[in-house]
Amino acid sequence: MVSPLDLLFESEGLPSFDLPDELARLYGGPLGFATPRLYANFVSTLDGVVAISSVPESNKIIAAGSEADRFLIGLLRAFAGVIVVGSGTLHGSPKGLWAPDGPYPAAGDALAELRRRLSLPFEPEVAILTRSGSVDVDHPVFEKGALVLTTIWGKAVLGARLPAASTIVALGEELDPREAVAWLRERGHSLVLTEGGPTVFGSLVAAGLVDELFLTVSPLLAGRGEPDDRLQLIEDAPLLPDAGVRGRLLSARAQGSHLFLRYELTR
Ligand SMILES: NC(=O)c1ccc[n+]([C@@H]2O[C@H](COP(=O)([O-])OP(=O)(O)OC[C@H]3O[C@@H](n4cnc5c(N)ncnc54)[C@H](OP(=O)(O)O)[C@@H]3O)[C@@H](O)[C@H]2O)c1
Repeated sequence: MVSPLDLLFESEGLPSFDLPDELARLYGGPLGFATPRLYANFVSTLDGVVAISSVPESNKIIAAGSEADRFLIGLLRAFAGVIVVGSGTLHGSPKGLWAPDGPYPAAGDALAELRRRLSLPFEPEVAILTRSGSVDVDHPVFEKGALVLTTIWGKAVLGARLPAASTIVALGEELDPREAVAWLRERGHSLVLTEGGPTVFGSLVAAGLVDELFLTVSPLLAGRGEPDDRLQLIEDAPLLPDAGVRGRLLSARAQGSHLFLRYELTR
């Protein structure tokens, strides 16, 4: 069983939900969200790398084997009505189902109890963003049932190839992230989690849609060189100097040499 996170700092007055005791003990205190909220969760190396695109499932390497990170992924999933990921992350996780109990099954019962208390269905919905429609329709998340938010073109490309359990929605010519999030809100999702990847996260941040970032900092250095196959926390969205997005530290936790940071993002 994972050891509890050590609380280093927490801002006063944060929303707090009645977590099952086991989850509160492992998280090192209460957790909750104002609604509506869009929050992101990433693990990064000390030098800001979140993926090595030439290495399958590189986030496992980046997390440096942290059980606490896996626990936190599950806990954050358990609060969500829907989890949003880009097609790059879908292909980077060929078996991913984005279930709350997937990363840390030992907390599965407590996570299920949390979802009962939140009056949420057993598992969050999973929404895949793809403009081009080039997704692997044999990915297991589609067999289980996922939402595919795409363009008119992407819907035409996918045609009827997705399994019946999944739903495809065309949101115009461009797939503006604002429209994607608005569509999910209309569907009734007030708590939206994005697990990236960095290109989708960048477009959500650039559109001013991300309220909070949970960032696990692992003690590894990824380095950089040729081939340049390292992705940073944000790709393809130059923010500074024009778009100043700033984090306000809401909490800091630690376990060993890993840091678990929670920021509110503001412009
Ligand atoms: N360390 C971590 O915590 C973490 C978290 C998540 C992911 N990752 C890793 O990150 C890597 C994938 O990152 P990525 O940046 O290449 O992929 P990504 O952000 O998951 O997906 C990007 C793709 O999504 C599609 N897309 C649809 N709507 C978009 C929008 N509004 N903005 C941006 N993209 C949109 C585009 O492709 P199409 O239109 O062609 O479909 C785009 O190329 C994987 O290796 C994954 O394992 C790491």
